[in-house]
Amino acid sequence: MVQKKPVVIVTRKLPDAVETRMMELFDARLNVDDTPMSKTELIEAVKEADILVPTLTDRIDASVLAQSGPNLRLIANFGTGIDHIDLKSARQRGITVSNTPGVLTEDTADMTMALILAVPRRIVEGVQLIEGDEWEGWAPTSMLGHRINGKRLGIVGMGRIGQAVARRAQAFGMSIHYHNQHRVHPDLENELQATYWESLDQMLARMDVISVNCPHTPATYHLLSARRLKLMQKHAYIINTARGEVLDEPALIRMLEKGDLAGAGLDVFENEPAINPKLRKMKNVVLLPHMGSATIEGRLDMGEKVIINMKTFIDGHTPPDRVID
Ligand code: DGY
Repeated sequence: MVQKKPVVIVTRKLPDAVETRMMELFDARLNVDDTPMSKTELIEAVKEADILVPTLTDRIDASVLAQSGPNLRLIANFGTGIDHIDLKSARQRGITVSNTPGVLTEDTADMTMALILAVPRRIVEGVQLIEGDEWEGWAPTSMLGHRINGKRLGIVGMGRIGQAVARRAQAFGMSIHYHNQHRVHPDLENELQATYWESLDQMLARMDVISVNCPHTPATYHLLSARRLKLMQKHAYIINTARGEVLDEPALIRMLEKGDLAGAGLDVFENEPAINPKLRKMKNVVLLPHMGSATIEGRLDMGEKVIINMKTFIDGHTPPDRVID
């Protein structure tokens, strides 16, 4: 008897090679035109699917999961962050959740480093000067930014990405500091030459650049609150390539408006894809469209991970990247 292939509903367009492989292995229902699914469509999807493959643009909350059909047993997220999935509700319904950690670490760290360089060295402003045909030639006092070498970098969240940022920043001559839920192993601290700050408040008050690299969870929502942002030095910069929700965006804007911070580099926002228009106008702010992990290689690796998670699960085993809440 021919076994029925599991119905896999994929909410967004994925790289062709990933989709082809999924179609070979599963009864894959693809989103060819890549329009993000509405809530109604998501509800239809969780009713129909054996496995759902969502991305961070899908809100898989309790009200969506409440409508899930009896077949839905796995949510194999295409991405590492899982703050868009109600894990508690999934667990209550016996639905396993997996993600794609590890394969976007280096790319996201590269983009973080790019912002750490771009904001203090005014790279985007420089490009705009040329593009606007406004450059009048080299001058001793034109386009001055701030040196990175010798500056203190405070990393909020010393997981995989935080560590990869630390390695890069070390090579640029920055001194590495970090705050994390738990202190990392002394060998790793040694390798990264990183100083641990148990108090986030104290670290914020001493750094020249802060890089946000922790996941968004209920515990980290607005971790960088208005009160904490005010602890930062006026000449300091803040970089966020994690999740917009970790940072109180309106508070950040107020501080930038008042000149209480030197600048910001943001790849993520509180209400993506909406961007506060005030941010767009600020010269000392570099904004990117959530592209930290956006490399062809990274997306293929993510697809590969999703497929391995699904295959392992179908074969009756725990997916290697099962999320434990
Ligand atoms: C993720 O996987 O969570 C990333 O934010 C995608 O870029």
